[in-house]
Amino acid sequence: MVEVTRWRAPLDAEVAVPGDKSLTHRGILFSVVTDEEMVLEGWLDAADTRSSLGLVQRLGVQVLAIDSHRLVLRGLNQGPKEPESVLDCGNSGTTMRLACGLAAGVNGLCVFSGDASLVRRPMARVIEPLRQMGVEIVSRRGGYAPLAIQGGRHRGGRFALPVASAQVKSALLLAGLTADDPVEVEEPVKSRDHTEHLFQAMGGRIRIDGQRVRLEPGRLHGLSFTVPGDPSSAAFWAALAALSSDRKVTISSVLFNSTRTGFLGLLARAGAEVTWHQEGTDPEPWGWVSVAGRTLTPVALQASDVPAMVDEVPLAALIATQARGTSVIQGAGELRLKESDRIRVTADILSAMGADIQEREDGWLIEGPTRLSGADIDAKGDHRMAMLAAIAATVADGVTRIHGEESVAISYPDFFAQYRRLQRIAR
Ligand code: S3P
Repeated sequence: MVEVTRWRAPLDAEVAVPGDKSLTHRGILFSVVTDEEMVLEGWLDAADTRSSLGLVQRLGVQVLAIDSHRLVLRGLNQGPKEPESVLDCGNSGTTMRLACGLAAGVNGLCVFSGDASLVRRPMARVIEPLRQMGVEIVSRRGGYAPLAIQGGRHRGGRFALPVASAQVKSALLLAGLTADDPVEVEEPVKSRDHTEHLFQAMGGRIRIDGQRVRLEPGRLHGLSFTVPGDPSSAAFWAALAALSSDRKVTISSVLFNSTRTGFLGLLARAGAEVTWHQEGTDPEPWGWVSVAGRTLTPVALQASDVPAMVDEVPLAALIATQARGTSVIQGAGELRLKESDRIRVTADILSAMGADIQEREDGWLIEGPTRLSGADIDAKGDHRMAMLAAIAATVADGVTRIHGEESVAISYPDFFAQYRRLQRIAR
């Protein structure tokens, strides 16, 4: 449990966030589909990415060097070997879903499981299309892990995904690398496209045409790249700044891929002063961003806005509690299927703190502004819910006690150390 209290004085600070989780997962997992080295500078060393690292090692990938900044992996000459026991994906949906695509190319059996949260998350969305590619899969009834994949020869195919999901798209593209013929995936709204970009950089024969991607089978070259800071981690500090007009936070080296920057756009639309400057383009655009708090106006979010900020939508609800008027957030039903039911848990956290928030099937209706007050919060083992509560507590009267705060180790192990450092600057 951690105890946090309202932050009082003005804040003008700089912060650096850890490497992007999605790019780190991919850098690690793609070592399975190359014969060469993968070098990741600035990788995210956290529980989720360690799940991916443990998994590729079980498939035969060797770790050549590892420290908190640099990770070097040797790809697989002979292709992946059949793992001897269950592949534990921990809490990581990205690890399990993307590795299902890798397993399609393993000559043998891969059995996947995970923690209590992961075995409740829907896997049918990857199982069904992989079966259509001819991959043999058995799972727990309803399409849940544990699940087993008998990999080997399979075909490609054309898939129109019912929901925008980078995890499903990436699984099908990974399976496509080892298929007999091309795979084509189309999404209703474009989700994050890191897999496509990395495949291109690794020499993959891939064509991107708006929301449609086509990939020819084949192995990839190795790649050496620097992982920019995670925009989903940066979003907590951006929200912290936006919540009060005497705060400004500048975040260095953040990934600017446009499929990830939706939350910064939302903050600007809500009235915060958002300034950003691109400093590089490799492996994807990145630079610094600065957010200063101003008077907030209500937030409106719909389904087409969600993929570019899917993990940040709960922070949009927090912003809405401090904006004058009615905010409507809808089309975000996917949040119910994340590490926790984030529609429900966000509503529980913010209403316990005194917000006027109504839970809807696919979002919330929020009246603001409300003065928040400290409360006892259960993060339900969900890293992003613990960090949401900590940011809300900075504008809440009294003491907020956050239970389950150790879950930040999933994506942002230093979160509370950085939080305390910024809080000291604010005092
Ligand atoms: C991720 C994709 C998103 C996101 C998750 C990471 C990825 O999930 O919520 O945290 O790295 O591909 P969906 O693609 O299922 O929406």
